[in-house]
Amino acid sequence: SFSSSASTMAQIKQVTVIGSGLMGAGIAQVAASTGHNVVLVDQNQDILDKSMGNLRKSLQRVAKKKYADDAAGGENFVKDVLGKIQTETDSAKSVLKADLVIEAIVENLDVKRKLFKQLDQAAPQHTIFASNTSSLPISDIATSTKRLDRFGGLHYFNPVPMMKLVEVIRIPDTSDDTFKSLVEFGKANGKVTVECKDTPGFIVNRLLVPYMMESVRLVERGDASPRDIDTAMKLGAGYPMGPFELADYVGLDTVKFIIDGWCEKYPDNPLFQPSAMVNKLVSEGKLGMKTGEGFYSHK
Ligand code: CAA
Ligand code: NAD
Repeated sequence: SFSSSASTMAQIKQVTVIGSGLMGAGIAQVAASTGHNVVLVDQNQDILDKSMGNLRKSLQRVAKKKYADDAAGGENFVKDVLGKIQTETDSAKSVLKADLVIEAIVENLDVKRKLFKQLDQAAPQHTIFASNTSSLPISDIATSTKRLDRFGGLHYFNPVPMMKLVEVIRIPDTSDDTFKSLVEFGKANGKVTVECKDTPGFIVNRLLVPYMMESVRLVERGDASPRDIDTAMKLGAGYPMGPFELADYVGLDTVKFIIDGWCEKYPDNPLFQPSAMVNKLVSEGKLGMKTGEGFYSHK
């Protein structure tokens, strides 16, 4: 297209993903699989090495399906994608060539603001910043920078290689070009994009998190067991996972971060109340699949 908006729209080729956990590794994998050059950042090389190991395993699962009758093709695919991902521990250095930075670090506003403030000074003028936050206002994160017009939300879902959705969030200052670039990037990742205003949980988590918390409250009242609730929602409502399997999959710490943040901001909303059961599991380090135990044992 030769329309004026297309000519000024940033073409995203170089992507920096900060945070190489559950989400960051998945985002890096998908971005590299769809032809982008990726720099993946975390706090130290040990974490990055572990993440790259998980990423390789995930790529092998994809390759097994995509190249079912072509083992050599599958191996080449894994090698090509891994070749597009560099790792880095210095976040300021990691953004020097970035067209887009996607942040997927811990769900904590102060930590995210501190990171973006530093990145704002290091990144080129044209670089677009996006957060993958599950529950924090994009505006509250963006105001740590001086590039509000080049800031938005890109919210992926776990497991990123399998889930086909990306929510694209704009704040009042997000420019049309930035918004279009983010939508185009989501599509270039092979995802379907939806748009939502900068509201708590956007679309999916605004519905999914209260649903998970309501399930926990059913158990806390002694009305049904986690196992029966999971069976009920899978066989009676067609969900691929029940709410307790899903909570363990997402991470109980993440669920707690989300609900505590919303409860603090909206104390009167009965859907945003914390749960003693979730708090207890988190305090015992039972965070779900990632620690081997949550509502269920995954050992
Ligand atoms: N990487 C690559 N491939 C994967 C994968 C991964 N991490 N996980 C699953 N797959 C693929 C594999 O091809 C796998 O086949 P193999 O085991 O032979 O490799 C295939 O998916 C099927 O997987 P499973 O047989 O293990 O299980 P399944 O059929 O139940 O599918 C699932 C797994 C896609 C995760 C499905 O259970 C599901 O959709 N669950 C719900 C997930 C969900 O709701 N996510 C959103 C969470 S909320 C969120 O993310 C937002 C937030 O901010 C908190
Ligand atoms: P995670 O704990 O698996 O990974 C976070 C990673 O960030 C860790 O490896 C940690 O070492 C790293 N990190 C922390 N501070 C850092 C810093 N200052 N610089 C560089 N790296 C840093 O968490 P996750 O589940 O991947 O979640 C990441 C973000 O994505 C959160 O904002 C979360 O709310 C959001 N999110 C999570 C899910 C989910 O299902 N878990 C889904 C969508 C969005």
